[in-house]
Parts: sequence; structure tokens; C-alpha cells
Amino acid sequence: MAAERVIHKGLDGVVVTENALTFIDGLAGKLMYRGYLIHDLAEHSSYEEVVWLLLNRELPTPAELAAFKVELAAQRAIPEGVVKLLRSLPGQANPMAALRTAVSLLSLSDAEADDNSDEANRRKAMRLIARIATIVAAFDRLRDGKEPVEPDPELSHAANFLYMLTGREPDARAARVFDVCLVLHADHEMNASTFSARVTASTLSDIYSAITSAIGTLKGSLHGGANSEVMKMILEIGSADRAERWIQDALASKRRVMGFGHRVYKTEDPRATVLRRMARELAEKQGDTDWFEISRTIESEVREQKGLFPNVDFYSASTYYMLGIKIDLFTPIFALSRIAGWTANLLEQYADNRLIRPDSEYIGPQERPYVPLAAR
Ligand code: ACO
Repeated sequence: MAAERVIHKGLDGVVVTENALTFIDGLAGKLMYRGYLIHDLAEHSSYEEVVWLLLNRELPTPAELAAFKVELAAQRAIPEGVVKLLRSLPGQANPMAALRTAVSLLSLSDAEADDNSDEANRRKAMRLIARIATIVAAFDRLRDGKEPVEPDPELSHAANFLYMLTGREPDARAARVFDVCLVLHADHEMNASTFSARVTASTLSDIYSAITSAIGTLKGSLHGGANSEVMKMILEIGSADRAERWIQDALASKRRVMGFGHRVYKTEDPRATVLRRMARELAEKQGDTDWFEISRTIESEVREQKGLFPNVDFYSASTYYMLGIKIDLFTPIFALSRIAGWTANLLEQYADNRLIRPDSEYIGPQERPYVPLAAR
């Protein structure tokens, strides 16, 4: 008798590969990049250090970091054709759709696009990490009728993004908060967008195609798209005294509260702990604690009613909002950090590839006689 086939809906609990990048202990609420606790990295490291760590296995020495920052900053400019494309997009274009399209176009001006060697893929990873930030900032300015701001090679990746977005150099506090956000979002084991990137690469398609798949997957509201939905919810609720009732009504009508729950974490997402603290500090510093208080009330109500904890998307929403960033840029910002994890995963996938091709259980009609068109 054939062995019974078990369906793992949503691939829940299915281990598809080994990875040497990121470890999550969902019960203990622990996350590590290459063995380093996320809280240590958020406290002490910059995004550039984390990118190096993900791509090169070890934290950089001071000399390696200095050279890497220069190398990354030198790759920030985007081809004129991509600027032209962004200029031509409709004003209402979804920023994630714009990013997906622009990354796809980037491949057409990259002579190494179809070279799948490790060396070429590392060079393309650098270009992608440097340029996605430039694309997001340029898209936002162009839709507002402003010209893109040239990247400043003297600024860190985080500070330069905020500079390209606003045309003003951010203060040190804002730049560091944003840098920590990038550190926290850089990689996260076999999440949906990383998986889709790996699926695409597993056919030996190119890195740009894989990243385009990943961006399309991150866009969805059950994944990276949740952060902007969180902010819309907070604004809709409007004041902390309305939050409890709003959540009760939402849960009673079986609505999902965005920014809560996780496939892997069954306790607090350790990234949410850092983001909550930063959101509180920003709120107190700016003397405007409304969004933070609404968030806290939502959190305690969802915890009480459903036993669910906030994920990375919950407090990143009010953090970005208080940094003055538009709500529909929250998910592209996720992408401009996660590009590090996506590309590091792709290097692993190409180095030890097997086509990813699961099965499905057929439940349609059994074999039956064909009916000619005239007889139907
Ligand atoms: N609000 C209300 N109920 C929820 C939520 C939520 N946010 N999350 C899970 N649940 C409930 C489900 O309704 C389900 O209850 P039931 O068993 O009574 O039907 C139970 O918890 C299990 O939920 P599943 O959807 O089966 O869990 P899964 O692991 O498939 O989904 C997911 C995880 C998609 C993250 C889910 O928690 C969710 O929809 N959250 C809201 C969207 C969100 O914040 N996404 C970002 C995740 S983090 C990231 O991707 C960066």
C-alpha cells in the first residue's frame, strides 16, 4: 500500500533546506544572524556591518568595514533608463509595484545579469543592495514632482536614504533609528519572500528575476505589506480610548489585526521589543505620544483577546511614521533592508542548488471519457 501523503498547507513546519545565515527560536523569542543575537546587532552594529556579516560569514574588521562602506556607496547611482521609467509611472502607482518593475529593468542594463557564477552574483548583490534604496527615494520624489537627490557617498546607507528622500541630511538620532530598523529587517530565515526568491533561483534563473519574485511576495499584507496596514489601522482608530472597542469589533467580525501573529514566533518577536522601545523614545522626544499609546492599547487588547504578540511590522509602523515617512513607503523600506538577506540566501541557493518543486494532491475528477464539442 502506498504511504499516505500528508498535506502541509502553507508548508507549515516543512524544512526545505539548510541555511547558515539566520536562526530563529520561535518559542524563546530569539533571533540570530550567523550566531549573533539580534539585540546585540541592533545595539552595536550598523546596517553595513550586518550586510557584510550576511554576505561574508563574519563581522568585518574596521579596515574591511571602511572599505566595504566606500564600495557600497560607490554603487548607489541608478541607470538613467531606470530614472526615466520611474518618471513615466502613473502618480498613483503602488510603490512596491514600482520597485518590482524598476528592479526588473535594472537587470537589462547589467552586463552580468545572466552570469550565475558566485563572483558575478556577489557583485550583483552589492549593486542591488546599494541601488534599491536609490530607486525607492527617487520614485517618491518624482511622484511628488521633485527631482531625485544624488546619493551622498559620505553618508551611511541609512542616512543617505533619508537624505535622498527629503533632500536634507537627517539628524544623528533619526539616522541611527533608521539604521537600527534596517538591521532588524535584514534577514529572517525561510520567510515567504526569501522562499520565493530561492524557488526562482532554484530553476537557475538569474538573481534579478529572483529578487523580482521576492519583492512581489513581500508586497502582500500577510507579509511585508502588513506594516503600512498597521499604520492605516492606527490612524483609523485615532485615539487610545477608541482602541479597545475597535479591536473587539475587528476580532468579533473575524478580521485579522495587522502586525500580530507569526508563523514561527509563539512569543514576542525580539525585533518588536527593540522597535517598541524606539517608537516610545521617538514619541517622547517629539512630545507626541498619541500613536504610541494607541499602539500599546491595541497590543494589550490583542494579547488579552487572542493571545497574539506583535511582530516586526507592528511597531515599525509608528516608528517610520514618526520619522516622517509616508505610509506607502513602509513596505519598500522593508525591501531595501531585506535585499541583504535575499541576496545572501540566493548565494547559498546557487552554491548548493536543487530544483524546488513540491507536490500537490489532485482532488479533481477521475479519468473520464472525452466528450466531443458537438456533443456537449
Ligand atoms: N489577527 C487575528 N487573528 C489572527 C492573527 C491576527 N493577526 N494572526 C493569526 N490569527 C489567528 C488565526 O485567525 C487563526 O485562528 P483560528 O485557528 O481560530 O482560525 C490562528 O491565529 C492561526 O493563524 P494562521 O493564519 O493559521 O497562522 P499562520 O502561521 O498561517 O499565519 C500570519 C501567520 C500570516 C503572520 C498571521 O499571523 C497573520 O495574518 N498576521 C497578520 C498579518 C501580519 O502581521 N503579517 C506580518 C507577519 S511578519 C512578516 O511577514 C514580516
